[in-house]
Amino acid sequence: MNKDVIQAQIEKQVEQMKETIANAKDSAMLKQIQVELVGKKGTITGMMKMMKDLAPEDRPAFGKQVNKLRDLAVKLIEEQKKKRLEAEQETKFEAEKIDVSLPGKKSKIGSFHPITKGYYEIRDIFLGLGFDIMEGPEVEYDKYNFEMLNIPKDHPARDMQDTFYVSEDIVLRTHTSPVQIRTMLNQKPPIRMICPGRVYRTDDVDATHSPVFNQIEGLVVGKGITFGDLKATLNTFLKELYGEETKIRFRPGHFPFTEPSGEVDATCKTCGGKGCSVCKGTGMIELLGCGMVHPNVLRNCGIDPDEYSGFAFGLGLDRIVNIKNSITDIRLLFENDVRFLKQFK
Ligand code: FA5
Repeated sequence: MNKDVIQAQIEKQVEQMKETIANAKDSAMLKQIQVELVGKKGTITGMMKMMKDLAPEDRPAFGKQVNKLRDLAVKLIEEQKKKRLEAEQETKFEAEKIDVSLPGKKSKIGSFHPITKGYYEIRDIFLGLGFDIMEGPEVEYDKYNFEMLNIPKDHPARDMQDTFYVSEDIVLRTHTSPVQIRTMLNQKPPIRMICPGRVYRTDDVDATHSPVFNQIEGLVVGKGITFGDLKATLNTFLKELYGEETKIRFRPGHFPFTEPSGEVDATCKTCGGKGCSVCKGTGMIELLGCGMVHPNVLRNCGIDPDEYSGFAFGLGLDRIVNIKNSITDIRLLFENDVRFLKQFK
C-alpha cells in the first residue's frame, strides 16, 4: 500500500476519532468507544496489521504514527471521561442539593387523651392526700367481683352490673372494687389506696353509657375511721377537682358492700347550679357512690370489723371527665376523632 494513502487514512481516523469522543454522552459510551478503537479487535489495533503492506523502509515511521494515534486516542478518551464524570457529578449534586437555611419539617406531636389527663389530675389529688395506687386484672374471679363484696350468686344487685362471663367463675370485672378485695387480702390495715382501671358491663350505648368505661375507686381502712372522714376526704377531693366554690351534696344510696351507703352530687359545672340540659334542670350532677365498708366485706377479707372500720367510694372517670370539659356524649371519648382530641392539647 502507498505510504501517502495510509497517511491520509490516519489523518481521517484522527478527525473521526476526535469527533466521536467529543460527542460521547456518558462514561458507558466512552468505554464502548475505547473498545472499538484500542481494544484487541479495535480499529487502531487493526491498523498495525497494515504494516506488512508497506515497504520495509516505511514501516518504522508508520509504526510510530500508529502508536502516536493510539496514545492520542487513550488521552482523548481519558480527558473526555474526566469531563463527563465531572458533569455527571455536578448534575447529581444539583439534584441532591439541600438548602440548609430552609425551615425543617415539623413532626406532629400527639397529646394525652382527655381520660388520661383526667386520671392524672385525680391521681395527683389522691397522691397528695397520701393514697397509694393499686391495680388488678380486668378478667376477674366472680368471687372477687361479686361474692366477697356481699353480692352472692342470686343477689338482685347483679342485675345492675350484668357483665360478660368468661366461664361460670370468671367475668370481665364490672367495677374496680375487686382490687379493694385483693388489697385487703394481701395487706393489713391501715390501708389508703385508689384503684383506677377499665371495667365492663352489658349496658347499651347512649350518651352517658358505654359497655367499656373507666372507674377510679378508693378505700381507706384503719382504726376509728368514720363517715366524717369519708365526707372530709370527698369534699377535699371534689373541691380540688372542680374548684372551691363547688357545692357538694351527700344523699342516701344503696350498695351491698357498704353500710351506710351514699351518692354524691356536685354543682353542675355547665350552668353553675342554675339548671341546664346537662344536669336535666336540677343544677346538680351525680358524681360517685360511697359508703362505710360493710362488716361482712371486712370479715371476708380477714379483717375484724370490731377492731377496724373503713370507707370506700367509686366514680366513673369518663363521666367526671365529660362534666369537667362540658362534653355531652361519652362516645366522643372512644371514637378517637383527631378533630375532637386536639381540642384537649
Ligand atoms: C359502682 O361500680 C361501685 N363499685 C362504686 C362504689 C365503690 C360505691 C365503693 C360505694 C363504695 P356504680 O355501679 O354506681 O357503682 O358505678 C360507679 C360509676 O360508674 C357511676 O357513678 C357512673 O359514673 C359510672 N358508670 C356506671 N355504668 C357506666 C356505663 N355503662 N358507662 C359509663 N360510666 C358508667
